[in-house]
Amino acid sequence: MLPSSWLAIAAEDPRWALASDIRGRDPFGGRDCGWVESMRPFIRDFSQPGDSVLDPFCGFGTTLIAAAWEGRRGIGWEVEPQRIQLAQARLARLGYAQAIVVPSPEGRPAEPVDLIATSVPYFGSGWRGPEREIQPSDADLVVPYESGAVVAIAGWFEARGFRLTRWGAPITAPSIAEALPHTEYIRAERLDASGTLCRFDLYFGRTPAIFLEAQRRSVLVDDLPMRLEDDLRPPPTR
Ligand SMILES: C[S@@+](CC[C@H](N)C(=O)[O-])C[C@H]1O[C@@H](n2cnc3c(N)ncnc32)[C@H](O)[C@@H]1O
Repeated sequence: MLPSSWLAIAAEDPRWALASDIRGRDPFGGRDCGWVESMRPFIRDFSQPGDSVLDPFCGFGTTLIAAAWEGRRGIGWEVEPQRIQLAQARLARLGYAQAIVVPSPEGRPAEPVDLIATSVPYFGSGWRGPEREIQPSDADLVVPYESGAVVAIAGWFEARGFRLTRWGAPITAPSIAEALPHTEYIRAERLDASGTLCRFDLYFGRTPAIFLEAQRRSVLVDDLPMRLEDDLRPPPTR
């Protein structure tokens, strides 16, 4: 949070925080889960009790909990089936029954909604802020969003003994082409000779801006274009 932010929340209410067992079931440890407290003021200010609130990237259902808390009807869209299960488990524990669905290809709400409130997916977004030219992002490699390139690069990792997963579920390089419309990234992992875990998160750059940035900063690995992120993290030790 920047010092100029007008919404300064010191602590998260443990009643609504993502439970540790649910966090533990998420392959990314729930690192992109927001706070219910951050969403409440927006829902309160921009909608009325009884209104419907849509979060089109609802993740763990944080917005839906805030909506229920404010007496609104929450509707969630989420592209990852595993995330939907985790969000539904979280909501059920709190006694909230709010709809979460995989969005339709057209991406239009089935019914009119009163408010759309979300925190957007930011994997590999390369957001430019005041502190650094390129902010840390969650992706280690940005790959052009094109099935030939994605399958080739995933195959490059696979051929070198990396295990490929998508949200914790195993995936093979050829099958990524079919999954592409609903896949933003995959993870490649293997143990090196010393037993250290090597992990890469590959993000598929859909937008022209990300694609051009990836091309500008690309390096060639076996003639495949790849971009190494600034914040390539040292692999965690086991
Ligand atoms: C930043 S997270 C949202 C976290 C959420 N605010 C919370 O606190 O739980 C963004 C979510 O958008 C989902 N997502 C990405 N692309 C999507 C798409 N095309 N349609 C629906 N959901 C998508 C991701 O799977 C991820 O769960």
